[in-house]
Amino acid sequence: MCGIVGYAGGRKAAEIIYEGLLRLEYRGYDSAGIAVLKDGKISAVKRQGRVCALGGYIKDMDGKLGIGHTRWATHGSPSDINAHPHSAGKFTIVHNGIIENYSQLKAEYFDGEKFTSETDSEVVVRLLDKFYDGDITRALFKVASLLNGSYAVAAVCTDFDGVAVIKNKSPVIIGYGNDGNFIASDAPALAGFCGEISFLKDGDCALVTRGGVSIFDSAMQGVLRERVKNSATNASLDLNGCPHYMLKEIREVPASVVNTCNAYSSAEEKLKSVVSGCDRVIIVGCGTAYNSGLIAKRYIEKFARIPAEAEIAGEFRYNRPVVTPTTAVIAVSQSGETADTLEAAKLAYSLGAKVVAVTNAPYSQLTRCAHAVVPVVAGHEICVAATKSYTGQIAALYLIAHTLAGRDIGEATQKLFKISRLCESAIETEGIDSLAHMCARSVGTYFLGRDLDYAVAVEGSLKLREISYIAGGGYPAGELKHGTLALVDENVVAVVIITDKRLADKSMNAVEQVLARGGKVAVISNIAETEKELQGRAQLIKIPDCDENLSPLVSAVAVQLLAYKTAVLLNRDPDKPRNLAKSVTVE
Ligand code: M6R
Repeated sequence: MCGIVGYAGGRKAAEIIYEGLLRLEYRGYDSAGIAVLKDGKISAVKRQGRVCALGGYIKDMDGKLGIGHTRWATHGSPSDINAHPHSAGKFTIVHNGIIENYSQLKAEYFDGEKFTSETDSEVVVRLLDKFYDGDITRALFKVASLLNGSYAVAAVCTDFDGVAVIKNKSPVIIGYGNDGNFIASDAPALAGFCGEISFLKDGDCALVTRGGVSIFDSAMQGVLRERVKNSATNASLDLNGCPHYMLKEIREVPASVVNTCNAYSSAEEKLKSVVSGCDRVIIVGCGTAYNSGLIAKRYIEKFARIPAEAEIAGEFRYNRPVVTPTTAVIAVSQSGETADTLEAAKLAYSLGAKVVAVTNAPYSQLTRCAHAVVPVVAGHEICVAATKSYTGQIAALYLIAHTLAGRDIGEATQKLFKISRLCESAIETEGIDSLAHMCARSVGTYFLGRDLDYAVAVEGSLKLREISYIAGGGYPAGELKHGTLALVDENVVAVVIITDKRLADKSMNAVEQVLARGGKVAVISNIAETEKELQGRAQLIKIPDCDENLSPLVSAVAVQLLAYKTAVLLNRDPDKPRNLAKSVTVE
């Protein structure tokens, strides 16, 4: 949430920072700004709107060091004034996170003074200016000691030929380039600029200059942080001829399944020892990651016969969860940064549970809150709507369920390889265009299914709501008659997912109940009998026949494409849906 970039080097800073911000826009895109330092003077530009709103100013911004920000508003509406950077005295800062005690700090240190913006961040720069005694590091640590909340604060100061940064909870990476050094919220910002990066830990402060990087831990002692290869490359940012990242990433679903399988063996032994003897599993996550937990619950109960439940991380952390040393808590998160999921994992850890992280971000904070880490290898996911990370999560969770069952994963892996090829053919599924037209014309679209199909229905509904802004929900098909049926009319679409032969007749009851009331129905299915029974009375989207436990991977592709095509028909930007950001690092 919010992206920050900083650079100190031999090139024009504004250009590099602008490029980095464009790549971090998935973290927030309601306003943006850049500040550069030249000859002891800071010049800044900030504008409401997307990063490209800054484009016209870059050529006039000279200076070889600076900072930039792309915002997802928390305090204060998106506006030029509230956009970052913020300045006071010799300092200019950008901030990612939330300062929870900002009003107390304002009252205590600046009583009666007029602030320029409505942001929580402005108090940070004012405090820096207040406590600065000629030593930037000391000022940063002093200010940090007063702050409650999450922050990655990058600062430039007219006295210092570099960028200073301090962090708590919000991520910061350091990038080592050939012609200068960098800071950023996430690796894609530095693709092509830095082959090597390192990750700051909470409490760390770094001074980044053209000549080098000095890092200090929370005790203000100099430390080294491991340098690793930057996995984000220019190729990972390429749209590969697709009009949007979402489509590109749906096309990468097969690879996410295969790569996640291939990486599983690196985690398997550790996982086995961590979960050995566990008699209960709770899967926690938010949004799509929670929805993959709905699938995991079913896998774990089915294969391992261990009681399992999926819980929304933000609920888990506040409902005094009952866990014991024989409870495994599986925290699922694409980014490994989601605040609620991190706190849920930390809480479970502190209560003695065995915590397993399932994440697409190998160096993320979540990996540091877990006894074992199972990688999802989906590659960088840029679109705000999760697609390939969801299928990667399902693959990882399927294998975890086999490990919990004490089974060898060889056969399961082969099944996943096979299904990845079916996902490839599902990308060409026919009929999605016309269903997308139907959904785009609807005032509401809701999804129904049973068991695993229900879990995909929940995800399909989230995807459609998120990027097309069409209201709806995902419900168990059997629940239809207990309330949701009241929605049915000619302007509402029901999408029923039917891939489970055992339950197909039951799900068809829901189809009949909607049709009988004049509602519009589409069925996503791979069952021949379903097609016969429909007799053309509802639109049918045929997906490839497959192992019924793995059908969510195939039907996921269909619902993702449906959401994508509907959003495009409605002229929505599927990569950057309104009001949202990809990594939700605040509560
Ligand atoms: O990075 P995470 O997997 O923890 O993110 C969780 C949710 O914020 C995320 O899945 C969100 O729901 C997606 N935008 C859905 O497409």
